[in-house]
Parts: sequence; C-alpha cells; structure tokens
Amino acid sequence: MLTAEQLARYDRDGFLALEGFVSVESCDALRKRAEKLVRDFDPTGVISIFSTREQTRTSDDYFLDSGDKIRFFFEENAFNSDGTLRQPKEQSINKIGHALHDLDPVFDRFSRTEQTREIVRDLGIDNPLLLQSMYIFKQPRIGGEVTCHQDATFLYTEPLNMVGLWFALEDASIDNGCLWAIPGGHKLGLKSRFVRTSIASNLLEAGYSPPDRQTTRFQIFDDSPWPEEKLVPLEVEKGTVIVLHPLLPHLSRENRSNKSRQAYTLHVIDGSADYCANNWLQRSADMPLGGL
Ligand code: FE2
Repeated sequence: MLTAEQLARYDRDGFLALEGFVSVESCDALRKRAEKLVRDFDPTGVISIFSTREQTRTSDDYFLDSGDKIRFFFEENAFNSDGTLRQPKEQSINKIGHALHDLDPVFDRFSRTEQTREIVRDLGIDNPLLLQSMYIFKQPRIGGEVTCHQDATFLYTEPLNMVGLWFALEDASIDNGCLWAIPGGHKLGLKSRFVRTSIASNLLEAGYSPPDRQTTRFQIFDDSPWPEEKLVPLEVEKGTVIVLHPLLPHLSRENRSNKSRQAYTLHVIDGSADYCANNWLQRSADMPLGGL
C-alpha cells in the first residue's frame, strides 16, 4: 500500500496524508451514523466536559470508564452558567469515544478494512489491535482547541508501537480547525504521560487517608515548550486519512467558522507490545481488544 517514498516521508516528518483513502459515500455514511447516535443519546445528568487543557478536573468516572463504551463528551463552551445547554445537543458535543469500532456495526465496518490493515502492516504493526476510536465534531463556532500534544502521552505501549489514523469526514482547512503538526517533531522524545492513579495514593503522600477512587495525572519528563513556530497546517480534503506517528507533536485550533470539521480517529497498537496498566484508557476483562 505505502511506497518506499511515502514510508521515508513518514519517518522524516512523523505524518503522512493519503488523499482519497476513503470514499465520499463512506464518509457520509459514518456522519449519518454519528448523527443518529447523538439523536438517540439522552444527555440528562451527563456533564462531563472534555478539555485537554484541564484534563484532571474533567477526568471523572464517565471519562475513565469510557474505554469499552460509547460515550458523549460536551464542548467546554456548550453550557450556560446554570448548566443548561446553550445550543441543541447536536451542536454541543465535542466527541464520542472510545469503543465505537467494537460496539457499533457501522463504525466496525469503517474501521476494519483491508486498506487500513495494509497501511498498518507497512508501518511495522504485524499484530494489529484496535485500541480506541473517537468521533470528533469540531462544531461550528464553539469547536474548542486541542493544545499541542503527542498521542503517546495518552496511549503508551512498551516498546512504543502504535499508529494514529485521522480520517477527514469533511474538508479540513485553517478556517474550520484543521490539524497542525511539527514536521520531524516525533524525534524530540516523549514529553509526558497521562496516567491513571488513585486519589488515595495522591492524598496519602500528603498525609490523608481518603476512600480509594481513580483519577488521572500527568507525569512530566520534559517541560520545555514545543517549538510551535514550526507548526504547519495539514489542510486536507474529505476522504483523506492522515497517518500520525505516536510521538508527533500536533494540535488543532478553535473552529470559529460556520462549518463543522468532522473527523474520525483510530489508534492501533501491536499486540506484541505491552499496553501499560497505568494508561488512562482501560477496558474491563470481559471486553479484550479486537484485531483489525
Ligand atoms: Fe492527537
């Protein structure tokens, strides 16, 4: 599937955009399915707001338990001060995650294709397991920014053998909040990990002994700022897949335009690598990871 030139570019830049990888019809079918999932979702009581800037605050059980479920996360700016939605729920959801590929037949079909298997194999993942899926809405006007990060911060294997696939379900431009990446930045090393820990162990260190409850925290290995002046926009057409190295620094800015920028992402790991037990994303024992 991938040419030697493309593989060399991935090694050099840490990403690769493959135009026309998915048909327009498949993109539209996935968008329609996501629309239906949102329509059927009852938001009563769910106020988990996703924000990478304040992960710790928002990492409640709803987020922590989503590894083997289909869950809906709101935009940070979706709520009035009294907790009611400012716009209809269809325009308020930031993303759906993280097991769409295992629990929904339409997402399952989209995620498990021969082409995807070939790309992943070309990148050295011989025993692919689908780790997580996310449907990202990047809503018109309120679609929040995702600050510069490496995916390996959130999902880590030992040795690191993972790839991210970012499917553009709509045209992504600077205006509606496309991805930006630092070419070659995957060679700068891993700066942090976002790990699961228990509140008890955090507080015990401080001399308290509260009841045990899971939470998350960042382990920082390098707190130097990213060279964000080197970021380049990855403007792509609907149907493009962007292949992302797990150490590639990337971000997406706010969507202030009137157009959404929907995308679907998949993370694939190699089954022979060790999936770290303190990764924030975990599954229950009765729902092991499935192949591609
Ligand atoms: Fe990412």
